[in-house]
Amino acid sequence: MMYSFEKRVDRSNSNCIKWDTVKELYGCEEVIPMWIADMDFEIEPSIVKAIQERLEHSVLGYTFTPNSYYDAVISWFKKRFDWNVEKEWIKFSPGVVPGVNSIIAAYTKPGDEVILQTPVYHPFYKLVKNNGCQVIENPLIYDGEKYDMDFENLESIITDRTRMIILCSPHNPVGRVWTKDELKKLGDICIKHNVLIVSDEIHADIIYKPYKHTVFSSISDEFAENSIICTAPNKTFNIAGLQTANIIIKNEKLRKEFDIQLDKHCVHEPNVFGAIAQEAAYSNGEEWYNGLMEYLTENLKFTIDFFEKRIPKIKLVKPEGTYLLWLDCTNLNMNASDLKDFFVKKCKVGFNDGSMFGIKGEMFQRMNIATSREIIKDALERIEREVNKL
Ligand SMILES: Cc1ncc(COP(=O)(O)O)c(C=O)c1O
Repeated sequence: MMYSFEKRVDRSNSNCIKWDTVKELYGCEEVIPMWIADMDFEIEPSIVKAIQERLEHSVLGYTFTPNSYYDAVISWFKKRFDWNVEKEWIKFSPGVVPGVNSIIAAYTKPGDEVILQTPVYHPFYKLVKNNGCQVIENPLIYDGEKYDMDFENLESIITDRTRMIILCSPHNPVGRVWTKDELKKLGDICIKHNVLIVSDEIHADIIYKPYKHTVFSSISDEFAENSIICTAPNKTFNIAGLQTANIIIKNEKLRKEFDIQLDKHCVHEPNVFGAIAQEAAYSNGEEWYNGLMEYLTENLKFTIDFFEKRIPKIKLVKPEGTYLLWLDCTNLNMNASDLKDFFVKKCKVGFNDGSMFGIKGEMFQRMNIATSREIIKDALERIEREVNKL
């Protein structure tokens, strides 16, 4: 392998949210941060080269996304997901979160209802509320091993104020890669009740074998006309700091309404380095990406094995995708606040608290394994020591 994911990269003193805020967040410098969803790996070399080359032209004025940018995006999705995207459908956004915000603003009125399947990526709550809408929760069903969508409940909570459902696919934090059948069921319910599907597919590339990601709108033309797909290279290529994403809308009417909203939010030109990095990643990044998936797969195996053999009181909900693991801590017999203190103050490990992801998240922690195995081992050994003392 050309790239070493094993290398321990020192990210301190780089204004890094994960590593440079440890003291501020946890009150103690020894905590290992394993929360926010970025990776501790150096980026793919051709991205660095493309940015360096652009920088040699030392004028950084307003820029636009050239045809080669669209070609790179289109061929990545075709090759990876057999999804046919046309250039006109692709709308640049400075991130998936700002994109989802503009989507909610474009298609809802204050008081409308937006469905979230919880526990789910927490900023969705804020985006819905900030737009004056109401979050309606359709909690996922957990059988102690795996999460499923509750289709029956979903159908029962839809009202004439329900405008959209935000689908997290793959699902952060529970790690599900929704199957085509599940997506079909969901899509049929939404079409029957005229509910728009906003599918956040930012984690689509981080899938473990043998699972397979299905782009929601690739299922049928009817689904494509009733959905918006939110994508970005940010997770796959670890370039979240460049704030670059693509919101993909086939339906022409929805696209026009979204354009009006982007204009209202003054989202016009991309960041010069974001667009260049994205084009380089999607054009040249496949080998690096394959190496990344090999490394993450080994990290996952190592972590599953460690919990099973050495910390069986904590149950890892086996993920099908994403580098974010969902740890069921019910058997530690603590309340939510003690659980948080246990990991931070005793184990000195900084996970995301499950309660931030909504209903039924209280007894869980979210662990990011996109880091060197040495760091994972250190964190797991700290947890093992403290669990053994309980
Ligand atoms: C499901 C999901 N959507 C969106 C984002 C953030 O996207 P962006 O940085 O492009 O706004 C994340 C980051 O963790 C995420 O997990």
